[in-house]
Amino acid sequence: MYDGEAQPARNDGCWCGSGKKYKKCHLSFDERLQALADQGLEVPSRSLLKSAADIEGIKRSAAVNVGALDYVAERIGPDTTTGEIDRWVHDYTVERGAIPAPLDYEGFPKSVCTSVNEVVCHGIPSDDEVLCEGDIVNVDCSTILDGYYSDSSRMFCIGEVDAERERLVQVTKESVEAGLAQVKPWGFVGDVGQAAREVAERAGYSVVREFGGHGIGLDFHEDPFVSFAANAGEGMVLVPGLVFTIEPMVNAGQPDIDMSDSNGWTVRTADGSLTAQWEIQVAVTEDGCEVLCW
Ligand code: MF3
Ligand code: CO
Repeated sequence: MYDGEAQPARNDGCWCGSGKKYKKCHLSFDERLQALADQGLEVPSRSLLKSAADIEGIKRSAAVNVGALDYVAERIGPDTTTGEIDRWVHDYTVERGAIPAPLDYEGFPKSVCTSVNEVVCHGIPSDDEVLCEGDIVNVDCSTILDGYYSDSSRMFCIGEVDAERERLVQVTKESVEAGLAQVKPWGFVGDVGQAAREVAERAGYSVVREFGGHGIGLDFHEDPFVSFAANAGEGMVLVPGLVFTIEPMVNAGQPDIDMSDSNGWTVRTADGSLTAQWEIQVAVTEDGCEVLCW
């Protein structure tokens, strides 16, 4: 079939684990995906599609992830160090029997990414980095609970920030919401990317092309790549059970990034302009979508 696996017989149990016969369950779904694949469209393999039990597991993971971000929100302010944020997230997460997904991920040394002002993403928390009145910071939290991954990030404005920074943070949130509005079965990943990008560009900003959202659930980074450089109608077809993140990185200046930091992680805007990001995790459902983590 479309994912290279054998098709079950009509009276076999369905592959989704529902306990129903294949013909009463995913047969017509598979025929629809096969027809799309035959047209040359990119369709998800069945291994990417989450069962109802998977979604419940992801939600339990997300409850910890969201709780950790709420914990940060209650405490962050002028004079907080990003090293303290790392300890808050680490301790909050492990106290609930979960694992901070960034810790040791491909050698990442901390439990959360903290990206301040012109840092686009993957900022490494440090006790030497003190947040000051007027800073904007992205706190990107990812959690593993019972093997299920959740991932979301928020912007925090430290004390009073100037109107331009506030606008960047707000527009970036609206960009995510515009992407979310495109998530429905039989749409395309590119519909999400274009809608999110247009909100940013209409406000005079640009979106980073090298990074984007990603499938997630049973692993940290799964297919599809959710590009914000993509156009409507492009990329993977959205089908019920697909779970991915929407996480545009919006630059106040040019889209280009600088990845030359010797720590191998910290990504900055090439022109030194400010940048912002929000991230949510969403599931495609039978009739639309469900936000799992925000
Ligand atoms: N939430 C980020 C992502 O979507 C987390 C990166 S973790 C790091 O990929 F360890 F790679 F920094
Ligand atoms: Co992510």
